[in-house]
Amino acid sequence: MQRFLKSGQLRDSMRAFVERQRKLDTHMLRNTWTLGVTAFLLLACGAQEQDEYDPAHDYFSFANTDAFVTEHLALDLDVDFDAQQLRGSATLRMRHVDPASSEVVLDTRDLTIERVELLSDDGAIDVGHRFGDADEIIGTPLHVELPEGFANPVEIRITYATSPKSTALQWLPPQLTAGGKHPLMFSQSQAIHARSWVPLQDTPALRLTYEANIRTPSELLAVMSADNDPLTPRGGVYQFEMPQPIPSYLLAIAVGNIYFAPLGEDTGVYSEPELLDASVFEFADTQAMLDQAEALFGPYEWGRYDLLVLPPSFPYGGMENPRLSFITPSLLAGDRSLVSVIAHELAHSWSGNLVTNATWRDGWLNEGMTTYLESRLMEVIYDVDRVDEERVLSYRELLLDLESIPPEMQALAPRLDTGNADDFQGGIHYSKGQLFLQYLENAFGRDAFDDFLSAYFNEFAFRTITSERFLDYLDAELLQGADSPVSRAQVEAWLYQPGLPEDAPIPRSKTLDSAEAAAIAWARDDLPTREIPLAEWSPQATVHFINSLPMDLPAEDLLVLDKTLGFSVTNNAEIGRAWFIQVAKRRFEAAYPYLEKHLVRYGRGRLIAPVYRALAENGEDLGLAREIFEKARSTYHPVIDAGIGQALGTD
Ligand code: BES
Ligand code: ZN
Repeated sequence: MQRFLKSGQLRDSMRAFVERQRKLDTHMLRNTWTLGVTAFLLLACGAQEQDEYDPAHDYFSFANTDAFVTEHLALDLDVDFDAQQLRGSATLRMRHVDPASSEVVLDTRDLTIERVELLSDDGAIDVGHRFGDADEIIGTPLHVELPEGFANPVEIRITYATSPKSTALQWLPPQLTAGGKHPLMFSQSQAIHARSWVPLQDTPALRLTYEANIRTPSELLAVMSADNDPLTPRGGVYQFEMPQPIPSYLLAIAVGNIYFAPLGEDTGVYSEPELLDASVFEFADTQAMLDQAEALFGPYEWGRYDLLVLPPSFPYGGMENPRLSFITPSLLAGDRSLVSVIAHELAHSWSGNLVTNATWRDGWLNEGMTTYLESRLMEVIYDVDRVDEERVLSYRELLLDLESIPPEMQALAPRLDTGNADDFQGGIHYSKGQLFLQYLENAFGRDAFDDFLSAYFNEFAFRTITSERFLDYLDAELLQGADSPVSRAQVEAWLYQPGLPEDAPIPRSKTLDSAEAAAIAWARDDLPTREIPLAEWSPQATVHFINSLPMDLPAEDLLVLDKTLGFSVTNNAEIGRAWFIQVAKRRFEAAYPYLEKHLVRYGRGRLIAPVYRALAENGEDLGLAREIFEKARSTYHPVIDAGIGQALGTD
């Protein structure tokens, strides 16, 4: 960021940045993965001039990490539900790495800073601080000038409070929780929201250990991405320690009427008591997943692995907060059919949490690698057929994404300096990334590729990595082999070229083929509605059946289908998602009351954003989409509210 400021391009770049974000918010609706936040970040890179662009540089942080490097964070915070505020202090221990600089620059957003102190053996002294210019996306830099002779490492304590508007925190009133009696709050720091609840160097380029003292109302429990002890008594004072160094986006906290139930020896689940039994049933395979993951990818470096099942407004399927993945309750389908999300979040313990993308531009190294590991894990725990179904669904979503993403944004590691980066889609990082690794596995054979992966996790453990460094490592370890079936140029095509290479693997699934055939036969009246073998299908096959229905079906036929198969009243969130996208696209108005229920029931972006988008784009129902949104938005997370609001043009 420093270099960026010096280049004098900040204002122009930022204007372009904000403009892109606006456009991107619209695209969030189009993005089936609904991971718009990462996308905002990536798009911002587009503001750079070609010759200035440094793929290893984090353009989304003000922190001067070339002068000071945070090693440890100590939090001391009161959780005030009435004021919707965290209040207290953050103490940063930083190594001073550039003698020429005596100013620390931290990231903040919407924080009130009361005092900044330099700590030493002699006590604490106040030091000067000032805010720099606020930026709509990156936040506000906090400049702290240190007096001469400060120690190295230096310790500074910032006394501060968060705003109720904090983009990382959602404060839920009792009525938006399962129990309805206690409030609940949770954080979502990825990608650049940690700065809205802790003043710090908010970049994945650095890692820090942390400890925390948290005070809450006495009847509530606090949990963090740290050493939660399942036996912790309630009482309103909680202490945490995170001894493994993590990037700032993995800082996490939740406070609520939360209880614990064990799943296995090293695994368990936290949730409100009302969801605990359902969670224990749904996620019963978590311990087996952990055991198998260790066998496949190497040692699990984090101690326990627990889940926290949050209320429906949690904006993602899951978030890989270390030791404690945060999970959407929309996975509670009652049949364990959606637990690939758990495999995904667990797999991040290697790809992402252990080996971390250097900047958000290298997000495929977190998400594509994790999606690949997820599928490997799911194969061992369940079976190949089930995973092939998920591979095909993900591939189909990728093909759809590729239809709308401009070519220069289709690379896995795009040079985001073209100034025309508006259409970045998270699906590239996930599905194309997964396919690329599947391609390497096919080419080198599973055994050799598994050895490569274990060595990779070992080599880069607790470090960050750029796409370029990955390429060099892959080159040295595999591509240089005398009879390597893959050349460096072929790998570069995946990383830097649009679309999919001609020899990209094409996932196949027999069960999905027959669901597709059934959809076509039914539409042609060759298969009576009652004979559609829904009971024999997985929810994934049902999703594919719905996606495969021809566009020109009369409403009467859809009505018969819905009445017979019960799509509108499904309890499976993914079937509901697929169905209501079709309902909105086709203007199948008989199901609109159920569509509205779906949009109120769920807050996870993936489940609702594409339904709003289909309504907004069907030529008639933008008004209806806005109406439903107005009713539902108070229950949505700030990130989802902002994304959908902008896309529907209501803000
Ligand atoms: N780390 C992501 C969620 C995320 C990405 C949050 C970017 C903010 C910015 C998480 O691991 C994830 O990928 N969640 C997916 C799960 C799915 C792909 C199995 C989701 O929420 O849909
Ligand atoms: Zn992920």
